[in-house]
Amino acid sequence: MSDLENPQQPAFTVRLNGSGGTVRGWVVVDSLYDGLAMGGTRMTTGVTEDEVAGLARDMTDKFTLAGLPIGGAKAGIVSDGGDREETFRTFGRTVKPLLHGGIHLGIDMGVTPADRAVFFAEAGYDPRYRLGAPDMPVDWRTYYEPLIDCTGHGVGVGAVTALEADGRAEPARVVVQGFGAVGRAVARFLEERGHVVVGVADVEGTISADRLPVADLVAVTDEFGRIDRSRLPQNVTVSTGPDAWLDVDADLLVLAAQKYALNAENAHRLRAGLVVEGANLASSAEAKEKVRAAGATLVPGVIANIGGAASAALAVTRVVPFDLAADARKAWVFDWVGDRVRQNTRDLLEIAAAGAGDPLPALLTARRKDRR
Ligand SMILES: NC(=O)c1ccc[n+]([C@@H]2O[C@H](COP(=O)([O-])OP(=O)(O)OC[C@H]3O[C@@H](n4cnc5c(N)ncnc54)[C@H](O)[C@@H]3O)[C@@H](O)[C@H]2O)c1
Repeated sequence: MSDLENPQQPAFTVRLNGSGGTVRGWVVVDSLYDGLAMGGTRMTTGVTEDEVAGLARDMTDKFTLAGLPIGGAKAGIVSDGGDREETFRTFGRTVKPLLHGGIHLGIDMGVTPADRAVFFAEAGYDPRYRLGAPDMPVDWRTYYEPLIDCTGHGVGVGAVTALEADGRAEPARVVVQGFGAVGRAVARFLEERGHVVVGVADVEGTISADRLPVADLVAVTDEFGRIDRSRLPQNVTVSTGPDAWLDVDADLLVLAAQKYALNAENAHRLRAGLVVEGANLASSAEAKEKVRAAGATLVPGVIANIGGAASAALAVTRVVPFDLAADARKAWVFDWVGDRVRQNTRDLLEIAAAGAGDPLPALLTARRKDRR
């Protein structure tokens, strides 16, 4: 039924050269489950096959950990600065057989909902319909758009679960690195639960205070997660030093920005006892080792940031109860994601407490067995 038990190599890799035009990139299907796989499409200037393969593997791990009946995939397009619409039309024609064959490709870095609409249309692909599966009664955007904060919700649940497991009663001081869709939702989630946001960072630097008013910061942040420095609340400190978010004294650090934000060069500056990854591959392998060696806890992205991917997978696999009204359906998806993140975080911390080394492989092995 699935090839998830044999996780050494991708199920297959497709090199894209274009169809009726040129597009350079890859689709890596890391694993298939019942003939299905899914993952986002990223478009950057430097994307490589290895990067796409690593991200596809992460998707497999996410779905395995969450117990979702679908394999992991990812697409990467090398951005060449050409006409955007033409690129996505060509991409749509090229991946048409994959989309119709059970490989659902969504959005990732550098690709917008409008781009997705272009390549879905060019491929004549509508995820509402698939041979052998019941039709979705709502269109993709109607289903997916209300779930924008779902990733941040799951990351928040992972953080709160780990704080509770540590027996912590008092509010945590929190730094959120990255103030985009994920970072803003996590900051709101944690503040609503009584924790204190003491630092946030965007691509331009770090803003800190004894207590940052999250709603006021959100109000001056644009759609790309850039905080307007001319409209900041009073009595905040602004720093443009490299990775200054690591220097803010905090109990919890949420990584919700770029790949390898925490790395071999800067991990020694970590002050928080708990790190939760909201971004994919947010810390390098060396950084993870350093975090463990320092006695700090790290909840990885494959556990914490499943919200967006799980929301999509729940629809593609038709697990979501579509008969529920829109609000109830949204609550159902948020609860489903929260439950999975909570359970996986608890189990990971239990394995970590029982032995040395990275606890994630043991948890993955256990979840793979659960799926057979
Ligand atoms: N949106 C989702 O549902 C989702 C799901 C899983 C993983 N992710 C990953 O999580 C990360 C954040 O996603 P998002 O949707 O919030 O992205 P976004 O583009 O909305 O926001 C990114 C934020 O990170 C900041 N940033 C970028 N480079 C930085 C740097 N060097 N230092 C500090 N801040 C920096 C940006 O200024 C912005 O505030 C991305 O890596 C994304 O791939 C997102």
